[in-house]
Amino acid sequence: MTASAPQASQIPGPRRVLVVGGGGRENSLAWALARCPGVERVWVAPGNGGTAALAGCETLAIAESDSEGLLKACRSREVDLVVVGPEAPLAAGLADRLRAAGLPVFGPGADGARLEASKQWAKTLMREAGIPTAGFWPATSREQALAALEAQGRPLVVKADGLAAGKGVTVAETMAEARAAIEEIFAGRFGESQGASLVLEERTEGPEVSVFALTDGQRMVLLPPAQDHKRIGEGDTGPNTGGMGAYAPAPLLDADGLAAVRRLVLEPTLAALQARSIDYRGVIYAGLMLTADGPSVIEFNCRFGDPECETLMPLLGPELATVLLACANGRLDRAPTLSIAAGCSACVIAAAEGYPGEIRRGDVVEGDLATGDSLQLFHAGTRRAEDGRCVTAGGRVLAVVAQADDFDTAFERAYRGLERVRFNGMTLRRDIGHQVRTR
Ligand code: AMP
Ligand code: GLY
Repeated sequence: MTASAPQASQIPGPRRVLVVGGGGRENSLAWALARCPGVERVWVAPGNGGTAALAGCETLAIAESDSEGLLKACRSREVDLVVVGPEAPLAAGLADRLRAAGLPVFGPGADGARLEASKQWAKTLMREAGIPTAGFWPATSREQALAALEAQGRPLVVKADGLAAGKGVTVAETMAEARAAIEEIFAGRFGESQGASLVLEERTEGPEVSVFALTDGQRMVLLPPAQDHKRIGEGDTGPNTGGMGAYAPAPLLDADGLAAVRRLVLEPTLAALQARSIDYRGVIYAGLMLTADGPSVIEFNCRFGDPECETLMPLLGPELATVLLACANGRLDRAPTLSIAAGCSACVIAAAEGYPGEIRRGDVVEGDLATGDSLQLFHAGTRRAEDGRCVTAGGRVLAVVAQADDFDTAFERAYRGLERVRFNGMTLRRDIGHQVRTR
């Protein structure tokens, strides 16, 4: 070869990685990164009851909001890549702080994180860029919101503007329900009552699918589409949760469908960010509804989905760490191609009793399964108690993920895996993947 450009394989990957966050998503990221050749050590801050047990991983007791503590840890441990999992530290500017100190960070700055942190900002960007999304009406006062609702004369979807941990959305069936949701937002239920704002949105219909683009600000790589199960109850009933299970690749979007999402949604989004002088390095997560008229963006997030991340990580090749570092450095053009395993991945969440409402905590998690090549146990809301035992500490407690050539086998494996772990009040859906299972 005489090419003067460095070959992909010559691009060095990271050796010492910090993953920020403590959920199932971060547990799966740490596991996948620690498996990449060249990665010597992965720290997870603050991690959870499972992160320290992952091969090559260590837990650091530093809160995701403690940017100075995280920066110090990066320096003393000579971290050469930081991957930020959750949206809250991104929206608060953690990536900006670490980047300003010279660290390569996978995760957007506070400016780019507005894609998730402000629904008004994101909807305006979409409208200006011609990205398909439901019609909307922003409002910054209760009176303005109620007037917009009455003017439309039909129950609209009501969305609190800021980060609301997935709980700020009401798909109203009646006008009364829509009015009540508006009142709730301006009563301050989702954060600031002073200066609260919302968007009213046209209701759209269709199956939902999550698409993730890894970007260096200029270029992007798409991951296989995943389908989440947002409702707590079997048959997709009951209140919304963070996600009770997922599978990938979702056949809802074949290669042509994914290419259309890239062209209609993700490339225009990146161009619109660039036009606003935003150098977005991280994940763009498009939550899509596949309507009769084509894909429509329900929401953007500035991070991986949870549990989509747990579902996807086992399918991604050993180039992952190098690809994320290349995104962080703005040089995806020099990264190796991210290989993606053929086959199906299935993820089932075991949640605490009461989730997504008031939950029980402190129940001992018993049993285990070796996290390996086709079956993984990722901890989410767990922690190590003083006596070393692992106890429940959050709504979604564990994610069991399995891979196989077909979805039936993958889900059988995941559900069989779940039988080997237990805790009081363990709550799960038996019908995850009903869309793709035949038995
Ligand atoms: P979000 O937090 O924006 O993802 O919304 C939570 C859930 O509300 C989505 O997963 C959808 O199921 C539903 N939803 C949001 N926006 C709409 C819409 N415009 N029409 C119908 N359902 C919606
Ligand atoms: N699984 C949905 C989310 O992460 O927002």
